Amino acid sequence: MKEAFDVGQLSRPDVIQNPYPFYDLLRSQSPLFGYCDYPPGTMPGVDEPKPSWVVLNFDDVAAVAWDHESFSSRDSLQEGSSAPTLMLVNHDRPDHTRLRKIAAKVFQPSSIKSLSPEVDRLVAASMDEFFMPNQPVDVMAQYCAMLPSRVMVHLLGMPDEMDRDVRNWATAFMLSANITPQERQSFNTEAMGFFEKHVREQMTRIERGQAANGSLLNAFINTEVDGESLSYEEVVRFCMTATVAGAETTSFYLGNLIAVFADFPDIWERFVHDPVLFDAIYKETLRFHGPPQRLFRVATRDITIGRADIKRGDWVACFFGAANYDPEIFPEPYEFLLNRENASRHMSFGYGIHRCLGAPLARLEAESTARTLTERYAKIERTGTAEWQGVSLLNHGLTANPVIFRDRK
Ligand code: HEM
Repeated sequence: MKEAFDVGQLSRPDVIQNPYPFYDLLRSQSPLFGYCDYPPGTMPGVDEPKPSWVVLNFDDVAAVAWDHESFSSRDSLQEGSSAPTLMLVNHDRPDHTRLRKIAAKVFQPSSIKSLSPEVDRLVAASMDEFFMPNQPVDVMAQYCAMLPSRVMVHLLGMPDEMDRDVRNWATAFMLSANITPQERQSFNTEAMGFFEKHVREQMTRIERGQAANGSLLNAFINTEVDGESLSYEEVVRFCMTATVAGAETTSFYLGNLIAVFADFPDIWERFVHDPVLFDAIYKETLRFHGPPQRLFRVATRDITIGRADIKRGDWVACFFGAANYDPEIFPEPYEFLLNRENASRHMSFGYGIHRCLGAPLARLEAESTARTLTERYAKIERTGTAEWQGVSLLNHGLTANPVIFRDRK
């Protein structure tokens, strides 16, 4: 019953599937204490999540995400788990500054743009393999699941046939797959074991005067800023981070983008006739169906946010997904609008020093996907019920996304 809804119920599967009306029920009382859920890389069923504050309003979410000194990204639960901690995501300053300087050079927009032909090739090959015109296809099961993994496999110089492994590692770490703790642990161990060996081999290639396989891996190993480069251990963990943080979010995002085309045929039509609209569609999809709904921080001192007195050591769940539906900032939040003047203010890439580093790569994959769809198909029709995952609020996305691509005849 919606009237009796409280913050402790935000982890209910039906809420995870469509959280926005439930955020609205709590918004005026936010921040609220008592939400328990798992950060990435932890083990549901083994680890015990900490009760945390829930921050829902745009300004409060921005205040927490911006104030990296009062709100740490280090996560004791994750650090105590068997999974590796993520690079940057779970670092505070000063370590974050050093690592981000190097990683920002690796991910600089011109380098990412130069990957465009490789991404286009993987998009075309994956559509050839998975899409049959005029026949129902579940785009989540195949294309959206595999394309970001294939991009990562390619950029990290891994054997092509490891795309399914990357997919499994990412869903296990990001908690999207409903699997046992043992399976989760075994995927984490497998991923780290692979990258430890792979990076060692690629570093040996470089010592012998050759380039490492995979342009991203090559850049992770070779990039220097102020005479500093990444250690072997850091390169390994960057591979892990790009794999899990990059592949999983982008899979869900691509699914959400195709759902927009299938569920709003007028948007598809307008885009076909005016490709410049991609920018607006891309941003509004990030706001409307943003993959990461919430991420945690830990207070480093006593601090007041809104009407909440947060104590040092308290956990705070920053609900980026709720900020995206704050009617004070985005009027008519349930409408998919292409003329929002503040469309870029969506929070789906985070805010502050941890803002997503891989955003240009995610955009490249999304843009190539959307453009190639318009080149190949006249229409995208919904052919069955789209099902939203109900396992974790870490990512809002579909488990089933059945559509038909109509060819141009
Ligand atoms: C649509 C796809 C994506 C979404 C929605 C997304 C979302 C996010 C969000 C919300 C954060 C902030 C985390 C925080 O504040 O704690 C973040 C950080 C990050 N993302 Fe993404 N991401 C996407 C794709 C990617 C890709 C493709 C990569 C890399 C290949 C990537 C790498 C990273 C890294 C390294 C960080 C940490 C940055 C830092 O802490 O300084 N992401 N992402």
